[in-house]
Amino acid sequence: MTEPVDRLPQTRKSYDSGIFDHPDTSPLTLFRQWYDAAAEHVREPNAMTVSTLDEWGPSSRIVLLKGLDERGFLFFTDYDSAKGRQLRADPRVAVNFPWQDMERQVRIRGLAEVASAEDSDAYFAVRPRGSQIGANVSKQSQPVADRKQMQAEYDAAAAEFEGRDVPRPEHWGGFRVHVFEIEFWQGQQNRFHDRWVFRRSDGSHEPADLADASAWSALRLYP
Ligand SMILES: Cc1cc2nc3c(=O)[nH]c(=O)nc-3n(C[C@H](O)[C@H](O)[C@H](O)COP(=O)(O)O)c2cc1C
Repeated sequence: MTEPVDRLPQTRKSYDSGIFDHPDTSPLTLFRQWYDAAAEHVREPNAMTVSTLDEWGPSSRIVLLKGLDERGFLFFTDYDSAKGRQLRADPRVAVNFPWQDMERQVRIRGLAEVASAEDSDAYFAVRPRGSQIGANVSKQSQPVADRKQMQAEYDAAAAEFEGRDVPRPEHWGGFRVHVFEIEFWQGQQNRFHDRWVFRRSDGSHEPADLADASAWSALRLYP
């Protein structure tokens, strides 16, 4: 039987940060300001939920933001994983930064694009060696018999790459999320929160340059 929600352990926090008024800046500048603030209070500020689509509907998982510029939000994964296949088949994507400790969230809608080989090589090169070996071995999102088999495959790869650089496997690399809508949410008293969404000034749903303030209109939304 479903437990009544008022008997489940929960908290009811009052949000009362300062009023968040018209963001008179580009989405990129505002995101960077919020990200820098989150970095002081949130354990993994770069953890973001990425939602993808397939024929059965949406699915979500956390990944880590590894790059940001006017083109969008860069993360790395296995192109043959569930998310990798989904994004290559249908680039429509949603991203959420859940910075509850800041009484904030940032919501993003956009289109994901496979990053350049140069971007993927550059990030792969600075990953710890163990992670590089893991990326070569893991067939992310595929079934595996047991932990023993995973470890045996890891050990074999570690031996194979002994004494040389670990190559980036072709099935591993970046996706860049190009943005057509980005919302900044700030908790306020009485659940009367501040929401500012940036949409394309020309009404299109094509991604745009996040640093170009003229490409975007900021709208306040009811909470
Ligand atoms: C904090 C955290 C960070 C993660 N970062 C990544 C990441 O950067 N890339 C990645 O492929 N998976 C990452 N994962 C694992 C994913 O959430 C997910 O389990 C995995 O990518 C498989 O997802 P899929 O089967 O939907 O493709 C992370 C998980 C957590 C909890």
